[in-house]
Amino acid sequence: MMEKMVERTRRLVDELISSIDTPREETRKHEIKHEINRLLDEMLLSLEKREPESSEEEEEQVVTPFVVSVKDGGKIDYDKVIEKFGCKRIDESLIDRVERLTCRKAHVFLRRGFFFAHRDLDEILDAYERGDKFYLYTGRGPSSESLHLGHLIPFMFTKYLQEAFKVPLVIQITDDEKCIWKSLKPEDSKRLGRENVKDIIACGFDVTKTFIFSNFATVGDKIYENMVEVGKRVTVNKMMATYGITGEDPAAKISFPVVQAVPSFSSSFPDLFLGNDKLPCLIPCAIDQDPYFRMTRDVAPRLSYKKPALIESKFLPALRGKNGKMSASDANSAIYINDSAEDIKRKANSAVTGGRDSLEDQKKYGANLEEDIPFQYLSFFLEDDAELEHIKKEYGEGRMQSGEVKKRLTQVLTEVVERHRKARAAVTEEMVDAFMAVRHLPSKFE
Ligand code: TYM
Ligand code: TRP
Repeated sequence: MMEKMVERTRRLVDELISSIDTPREETRKHEIKHEINRLLDEMLLSLEKREPESSEEEEEQVVTPFVVSVKDGGKIDYDKVIEKFGCKRIDESLIDRVERLTCRKAHVFLRRGFFFAHRDLDEILDAYERGDKFYLYTGRGPSSESLHLGHLIPFMFTKYLQEAFKVPLVIQITDDEKCIWKSLKPEDSKRLGRENVKDIIACGFDVTKTFIFSNFATVGDKIYENMVEVGKRVTVNKMMATYGITGEDPAAKISFPVVQAVPSFSSSFPDLFLGNDKLPCLIPCAIDQDPYFRMTRDVAPRLSYKKPALIESKFLPALRGKNGKMSASDANSAIYINDSAEDIKRKANSAVTGGRDSLEDQKKYGANLEEDIPFQYLSFFLEDDAELEHIKKEYGEGRMQSGEVKKRLTQVLTEVVERHRKARAAVTEEMVDAFMAVRHLPSKFE
């Protein structure tokens, strides 16, 4: 509420100031704007001191960048997530608009509702329709030798967005992140980061429009300047509440979120965007990353930057059940994209099924598709709409058995992984260097 009023005041001040145009008043008008903004910042800071964000402890479901869990093994209620976070649901008309503007069918992840929430996506589309450019920003925090299928989702989707909108992309490798939150050593994290970059490149990004950077190697200069500016505008209380940090935690946790925030501002990349510090930003990610960007969006107007827009997905569930997400911290919950065909078969067979215990019951009641992990994975990765619909009907109505669905899933995943393995084998060290080199853009990102 208070934030909204403050923001409205800022907008009015901007409007008022731009309506005064005598050169003599130029300096004074900037002094006034500066002073009003400073006062508003102070008001917000003192408000936060009185009202730290509520702790998440007693809540039924927790969705943060570090924990995704639901009480009693229940299912994530994504409507509640939307309501709590304050983002918007992506509806049919928004998807139609994306299709019209890009002149192509929407990606399956969008069509099937996996990318389900957004912030200001409509504004990005308005800008695009006017012929303005934007850029994409996403990232990865290296924690394992190879990505798992869940990680692949935002990257596959980002590749589609880059191709469909023909826009530049920055990918942040937060190789500092797991050194702070886990016990990974910097040299190991840097190595995992480079391995993960190969997996990312293998998704098919266009090197002429893509910059991949490691935090350890790149943070400094304008990125660091923006980190300080953002950090000055967030209280320690707010950091602790938003990211579940306690007084006993290492201090590095407090300083990390601003590193993830600032690639949302094009001014962080003067070499790439040639000093254009007003280029709008769209961030594809799973909904667990939202807290970082809520904070970023709070601060952006205070720095006279545009708030980044977001397009956010549900989680690919863990093999052993829909409670939580596929996660790298539990090797058995995840299918890695370097798993062998044998591993995939074994893991697909171990997935939690919604098929009934006896053949008789299965025929009578049909499978519970909501509980069925193999069916849910198929709905992410089986591209053929007609075949998916067929399985849904036959399996859901008891004419198909879970063994058959698992077999089809094994084939589909083996194909996805095999395709990725081939693409990755073609990625050379030189290509990694090319994607990671700081470069000027060719004219107008085209
Ligand atoms: P990380 O490495 O944990 O995850 C990388 C991306 O994958 C998404 N993700 C999933 N999506 C669907 N189903 C799952 N089971 C699943 N698990 C993970 C994550 O949401 C993320 O989009 N701190 C970040 C790195 C980062 C970043 C960013 C991510 C830095 N800047 C900007 C998105 C946007 C991290 O550790 O992600
Ligand atoms: N095209 C640039 C080059 O090849 C690099 C690049 C293009 C880029 N678009 C980008 C880098 C967007 C970062 C972001 O020199």
